[in-house]
Amino acid sequence: MPERVAPEVRILANAEAAVPFLLDEIRRAIAPRPAARGPALVGFATGGTYTAMLKALGAELDGRRIDGQSFVATHLDEYLGYPPERRGGMVHELGTNCPALLAMLRAGTFFPVPHVDADSALRAHDELLQRAGGVKLQFLGIGRNGHLAFNEPGTPFDSGFHRTRLAETTREDARARFAPEEPPREAVTSGLATILAADRLVLCAFGAAKAEAVAAMLRGEVSVACPASVLRQHRNVLVLLDRAAAQGLPGQQVAQGAC
Ligand code: PGA
Repeated sequence: MPERVAPEVRILANAEAAVPFLLDEIRRAIAPRPAARGPALVGFATGGTYTAMLKALGAELDGRRIDGQSFVATHLDEYLGYPPERRGGMVHELGTNCPALLAMLRAGTFFPVPHVDADSALRAHDELLQRAGGVKLQFLGIGRNGHLAFNEPGTPFDSGFHRTRLAETTREDARARFAPEEPPREAVTSGLATILAADRLVLCAFGAAKAEAVAAMLRGEVSVACPASVLRQHRNVLVLLDRAAAQGLPGQQVAQGAC
C-alpha cells in the first residue's frame, strides 16, 4: 500500500489570484536544466478553471518573459473523434486560449492526446512522453464527481492512457460547450497511473460546485469512488482553492493553508 501524504493546500481570495502561482510553477519547472535532459515537459489541463492561466501564459510567451523554446507541452485528455481543429475539442480549446501552444503543435513540441483509441496511437503517445523525460509538471482540475482528467469514479488507480465513457455529470457540465450539439459520450484520457508519474502535480478548484469533491479528495477515503483522492499517494502535490471550493474543509485546514 503506497504511503499517504497530505497535499499542500492553499486557499486564495479568488480564482484570479491563482494565476501568478501557476505561472511561477511553470517558471520553476522549465528553469534551465542540463542540455542532456532536454526541455521540461509540462502537462496542461483544460476547462474553465485554467482559462485565465492559459491566457496569461500566452501573454508571457508573446512578450518573451517565458521562453517557448524552453519547454515541451502536452495535456490530459481529448474527446474521441475531435482532432485539433475541431471546435469543442481540448487541443482546440488550448489553442484558442493560448495560440502559442498551436504554434508549438505545428513545430512538433506540443504532444496532443490522440483523438482515436487505437492501441498503437495510445502507446505511441505514452512513449513520446517517456522519451521527453516524463511529465515534470502536471496541471489538474477536478470534476464535481471527483474525476481527474476523464478518469471517472470507478477507474482503477493503475490505469494508463485509455478510452473512457463520460459520466452524466461530466457531459452535463460540457453541454454549453457543445450546444446546440450533444456533448460527446467518449474520450481518450491519461490514466491515474499516468498522472501520478509526473514529478509535480498542481490541482486547482474554484467555486462552490467543487466543494464536495474537494472535501472527498482531501478528507475522504482514498478510493476509486473519488479518483482525485489518488493524489494522496503522491509526494509533491499543491492544491489551490478559492474560499467557495474550500468550504467543505475543516476550519483548521483552511486557516493553515490561507494566504
Ligand atoms: P472545469 O473542469 O475546469 O471546467 O471546472 C474541470 C474538470 O472537470 O476536470
